[in-house]
Amino acid sequence: MRGYLIIASSAVLGLASNCLAGLARRQSIPHDGQYIEANSQNNATEWWWAQVGGPVEDGRGPASFHVTFYQGYPISALREAAGGASAPENYIVINGAFANGTVFAYQIPASSSSVTYQGQAVTGTWAGAGEFKNSADLSKFTVRLNAPEFGVTGTLEITSDGPSHFGCNSTTSPYFDSAIPAGTSLSANEEIFYEQLGWATSQPGGDATVDVVLSGSPLTITGKGYHDANWMPQPIDKFMDDWYFLDAQVGPFDLSAVYAAITGSTKDFNTGFLEHSGTILQNQCSLQGSRKDDFVSITPYGLGFDAPSGVNVMKGFILDYTLANGDQYQFNITGLSLVLDQLIYHRWVGSAVGGHVGGEQYSGVAMYDWLNPSLRPYNG
Ligand SMILES: *[C@@H]1O[C@H](CO)[C@@H](O)[C@H](O)[C@H]1NC(C)=O
Ligand SMILES: *[C@@H]1O[C@H](CO)[C@@H](O)[C@H](O)[C@H]1NC(C)=O
Ligand SMILES: *[C@@H]1O[C@H](CO)[C@@H](O)[C@H](O)[C@H]1NC(C)=O
Ligand SMILES: *[C@@H]1O[C@H](CO)[C@@H](O)[C@H](O)[C@H]1NC(C)=O
Repeated sequence: MRGYLIIASSAVLGLASNCLAGLARRQSIPHDGQYIEANSQNNATEWWWAQVGGPVEDGRGPASFHVTFYQGYPISALREAAGGASAPENYIVINGAFANGTVFAYQIPASSSSVTYQGQAVTGTWAGAGEFKNSADLSKFTVRLNAPEFGVTGTLEITSDGPSHFGCNSTTSPYFDSAIPAGTSLSANEEIFYEQLGWATSQPGGDATVDVVLSGSPLTITGKGYHDANWMPQPIDKFMDDWYFLDAQVGPFDLSAVYAAITGSTKDFNTGFLEHSGTILQNQCSLQGSRKDDFVSITPYGLGFDAPSGVNVMKGFILDYTLANGDQYQFNITGLSLVLDQLIYHRWVGSAVGGHVGGEQYSGVAMYDWLNPSLRPYNG
């Protein structure tokens, strides 16, 4: 089967308009493919994200490495900070921490980006910056970074140990609309969130390695990795107030959860994904508080002041999964390093402890994000 090519450059602007018509959902594309056209004439964004966290060893913190291949900007303020109208449309962002706790951040512009397919195999090329590849069976995700003039070279590799999935219990739809009862009318913000924000997780977890050189300092990690992709027609701040994304790999479990508060809406949303040795125990999306079983509770705890960003932040989260059969699993996720601390965007790497309630407890690696474009205060 021949692959086909989508170039995210001004070449596709022929169909760009100031409405969302140019952002129609694509059909029949690979799980990790390109779903919308983000370009300099719209405010859409699509990104491919991978992260690897190392173990906590001998009092040394968890090293971590987070890399995102962006088209467009997930938050308006980030576009402004990158140059507003002249901000690069295609770029790679890198964040993370060395095991000694020192954090790093890079933003590498690319002259163009393309996402090509050979059957289900996907290759993303960010010219002058790096590339990613996903294997056709979604077992292996690799990143190659080649931007010596920005001080960044090296590779990342994740070998998946679990099933690819979408946010809701569907093999066909990467959108969240199944959380909304049929016939419900949605506000404009709810419509963007539930019908046009997409999420595809190709590698929910697995053994991973990072081998990079950052401004002359080598960083190698042997740990656990995660990869997903997201896209939306507007930056998050245009329709969302608050968003948590949590990812942990704990003994035989891979888990993730999302919480989102939509601007001007009472329809708060969450997802819960829990997998044990390759078997999905839960993969649900729902309106928060709407269910008696097959749901997750996402509860932040602790309070600390984060000086670099100047806001109060949580110390961790308790994730309580209640399965469809009533079984309960609990995980305690604790932040150890704050690897990204902007006013509206925080990210941690840390540890996670948990398992079946009353059963064997395991420990592992957690990585989680808090996006708070509305600056809703966190008071513990
Ligand atoms: C993109 O966002 C900017 C800043 O909020 C706004 O001025 C502009 O009209 C938006 N463009 C489109 C095509 O939505
Ligand atoms: C931690 O390690 C990095 C990379 O080797 C180095 O650049 C940094 O100075 C170290 N930080 C401390 C506090 O030693
Ligand atoms: C739907 O959820 C059930 C567990 O409740 C799981 O067994 C199944 O694999 C899930 N299907 C998808 C497509 O996620
Ligand atoms: C979660 O872990 C933190 C840090 O180890 C601990 O202080 C807290 O008591 C734990 N909470 C629960 C409910 O286990």
